[in-house]
Amino acid sequence: MSKELIRLAGCTMAFDEDIVLDKINLSIQDKEFLTLLGPSGCGKTTTLRIIGGFQTPTSGDVLFDGVRINAVPPHKRAINTVFQKYALFPHLNVYENIAFGLRIPKADASGNKLKLSEEEIDRRVMEMLEVVNLRGFEKRRTTQLSGGQQQRVAIARALVNRPKVLLLDEPLGALDLKLRKDMQNELKRIQKAMEITFVYVTHDQEEALAMSDTVVVMDSGRIQQIGSPEDIYNEPRNAFVADFIGESNIIDGIMRADGVVEIFNRRFQCLDGGFERDEAVDVVIRPEDVDIVPEDQGQLKGTVTSVTFKGMQYDIIVDFYGFKWLIQTTDLSPVGSRIGIKIDPDGIHVMKKSEYSGMFGDYSSYSEEYEEISSYDPEEEDGGDEE
Ligand SMILES: Nc1ncnc2c1ncn2[C@@H]1O[C@H](COP(=O)(O)OP(=O)(O)OP(=O)(O)O)[C@@H](O)[C@H]1O
Ligand SMILES: [Mg+2]
Repeated sequence: MSKELIRLAGCTMAFDEDIVLDKINLSIQDKEFLTLLGPSGCGKTTTLRIIGGFQTPTSGDVLFDGVRINAVPPHKRAINTVFQKYALFPHLNVYENIAFGLRIPKADASGNKLKLSEEEIDRRVMEMLEVVNLRGFEKRRTTQLSGGQQQRVAIARALVNRPKVLLLDEPLGALDLKLRKDMQNELKRIQKAMEITFVYVTHDQEEALAMSDTVVVMDSGRIQQIGSPEDIYNEPRNAFVADFIGESNIIDGIMRADGVVEIFNRRFQCLDGGFERDEAVDVVIRPEDVDIVPEDQGQLKGTVTSVTFKGMQYDIIVDFYGFKWLIQTTDLSPVGSRIGIKIDPDGIHVMKKSEYSGMFGDYSSYSEEYEEISSYDPEEEDGGDEE
């Protein structure tokens, strides 16, 4: 059903000696919402610029509809871009900002310059205003719009030429949290309504999970995992992905047999298999997948070292044999109490060891931060407030 629109085949980008993208392979399907997600400097913008034609890969190929487009300049690609710093024209009103691209004559196949009629321009601009929910704002100066409204003008301006693909580089970065959430829904709606392929860049994992059909997790110029939001969350491929997406306790384990993993010398049932016998593995346990039980009934027993009320649940840090876990629970277990825990087989996810093993998934420092916050005394800080 899905059809490949863009393919990056072994794309490497090097600046002098610096390899910032290392043999990227990526297939983007027609009409999908695909998100590049990763920490600062991992190569998201560079990947987007290669797709848009603003940068030519040092090696590897860029294909559009099966045709190699490495040398095709940006304006000749059926691709538009919304940059983080979307510069609207301050001297033009909303209508003219959106109409701008339509007024530039386009050459047809035989080189004749074609101009759209004012009627056609008006029809297209009004259609876009409808899509981005800005009907009635035609005459407004863009300097008199809110951040979210300006962002919607920028998106309308990029979509009015009917590109097949829209590239968006952290387009919501400048907006406050509430507006950001509204715009996430808005963008998703626009993408579905116009049936355009979106390639979206963010370092915000929640945003990526909420909006995307496909998430591409990147680190250090390499793709770590490609999958649906559910896949990425439930079946992270390595400790980097498990840590970057959501909260994870990541513990050393040994795979004793298919469906049996050993943690802290105790055997747990799990759903994973296909490892070598006695293979050392990384085990991911999400904070919400742990059940608290009386100490004598627990598969593991530990001491609560910190409790933070989060509204929906308590975040508690529990010390198991010197290793600190984050557990989310709706029942309060006070600091100092001894608890037992149980984990269902589907709450355990086993991963192969990787270059990221041992780097993530330990909540020791997290609990120290909490202790610092909870022991913070403002009176002490400013020496009291008596006159
Ligand atoms: N023109 C350039 N010359 C040299 N190095 C560059 C150039 N452009 C990018 N880089 C380097 O490539 C790496 C990836 O940069 P890129 O902008 O793709 O990261 P990013 O994932 O978009 O990060 P951020 O989230 O901070 O925007 C960085 O280390 C950056 O310094
Ligand atoms: Mg960037």
